[in-house]
Amino acid sequence: MRYRDTCWREWKELFVSRMDRPLPAAEPLRKYSELPPSLAKSLAIFQLGESGGGTIIEQARTSELPQIDKHYADAMALFVREENRHADILAICVQQLGGELIKDNWTATLFVATRRLIGLRLKVLVLLAAEVVGICYYHLLAARLPKSPMRTWLTELVSDEQSHLDFHCCFLNSQCNHAWKRGLFVVTWRTTMLLAAIAVMIDHRAAIRDLGINKREIWRRWMTFSRLAERLVIRPAPNFIRVC
Ligand SMILES: [Fe+2]
Ligand SMILES: [Fe+2]
Repeated sequence: MRYRDTCWREWKELFVSRMDRPLPAAEPLRKYSELPPSLAKSLAIFQLGESGGGTIIEQARTSELPQIDKHYADAMALFVREENRHADILAICVQQLGGELIKDNWTATLFVATRRLIGLRLKVLVLLAAEVVGICYYHLLAARLPKSPMRTWLTELVSDEQSHLDFHCCFLNSQCNHAWKRGLFVVTWRTTMLLAAIAVMIDHRAAIRDLGINKREIWRRWMTFSRLAERLVIRPAPNFIRVC
């Protein structure tokens, strides 16, 4: 893994290169009949969380924050589009599992309400927490599924979320140009991440239990990725993109 200076144009190009990926095709329902109903309910909650996101695009377009430009706003629009594609994939997963999509849920409402209350920087911080949760949770779910297309779809989501983590860290790093801002970020970030992890642990407890996911393992993974994101944001380099 290495880093190099970049500009928002490169993020835009990365998202453009992935924007025309087709949605997966549906499969025979019987393939997943052994999986617990709690998995469909859990994925339906994430499906709701991956939907929407239009207000942050407008905010990125009209923001007067330093270090961002038109290309950042374009990249943000493409990022939201990619998250909406995740929502479509998760909708297919829920349907394949025989579950039902939902229109509201307390953690999704909390997530959206928090995002609406605050400015672009805090919105992105909340999105970053969602990326950390998604990376770890989708990975653990995929690891417990039988070898199947659904497992591949979830693994693809993990890969996308990892680049989203870098995208948001790149933005937050560009905004933390003083020691006091970095200190404020660390306090806000750790608090947000802790609350997000607790909320997901409560809301998805049935799926976590039914799939035999060790709570300590999921917690450890969340904290590992949380610390990784923190280091990427407070590192002294101005802007970066991770190139694997
Ligand atoms: Fe996503
Ligand atoms: Fe994401």
